Amino acid sequence: MKNRLPPHPWLPEYYQGKDQRQGIINSLFDRIAPDYDWISQFLSFGSGKWHRQSTLRRLGLSQGMKVLDVACGPGTVGRCAKNLVGSSGFVVSLDPSLGMLQEAKKNSLPYLTQGLADHLPFHESTFDFVTMGYALRHVSDLPHTFKEYFRVLKPGGTVLILEISRPHSTIHFQFTKFFLKTVVPRMAQLRTRNHQALTLMRYFWDTIENCVSPHQILSAMEETGFVRSNVSEMAGGLIRDYIAWKPRSH
Ligand SMILES: C[S@@+](CC[C@H](N)C(=O)[O-])C[C@H]1O[C@@H](n2cnc3c(N)ncnc32)[C@H](O)[C@@H]1O
Repeated sequence: MKNRLPPHPWLPEYYQGKDQRQGIINSLFDRIAPDYDWISQFLSFGSGKWHRQSTLRRLGLSQGMKVLDVACGPGTVGRCAKNLVGSSGFVVSLDPSLGMLQEAKKNSLPYLTQGLADHLPFHESTFDFVTMGYALRHVSDLPHTFKEYFRVLKPGGTVLILEISRPHSTIHFQFTKFFLKTVVPRMAQLRTRNHQALTLMRYFWDTIENCVSPHQILSAMEETGFVRSNVSEMAGGLIRDYIAWKPRSH
């Protein structure tokens, strides 16, 4: 395994010691969990569910497939995947936040597991698809995470990582920063009365602004053994979907 590659540099404003990091992230998501769906739909102007489902369909997710949705949150990607795999397939949802898992349960996702992306409690070659929606910035190390995705995927299996990232143009970047760091938190706080919304959205933006480049993410995937890795960009680079495959011959 190559050197470690955290998705972004240390953010001392939110956590001091290495041991604190995941615990603080978990408690942030625990407290925002009941309001996450509303915030997620608001910040994507209502297009979030449509984007998740249409991307999964475009990549060939279909009846009977076995899906692992890592960082499931309240089941935002999982619900779309469940529609596509039907009753002959299944979706396993994994997240470290108990609050998020409780919301996923309310959303009728039956197979729930508490865990981290870089330590998956599954046998190798179990899943046809591994998905991760808007959470790559929260893992501690990209190569370890991708190694785990590679291990649990069947040969020929697909990994899809949906992400928000820095737009290309300066104007778009400044607008997005203002929208995500100022407008969304205030609206979310007004609507949900959840004070965690402010901290979460500030943290959310800081991880986006400081995230490693798409090139580094794709290289880490390739170094793990994934093939045909590519990124599709929308909205001037704000939305980036990373896609790759485990070779069939593996
Ligand atoms: C922004 S939410 C994404 C929810 C959902 N996937 C979606 O598409 O909207 C990020 C999720 O990542 C989870 N998370 C945080 N650290 C994680 C880790 N190390 N491994 C896996 N999931 C993690 C959080 O608990 C939270 O539910």
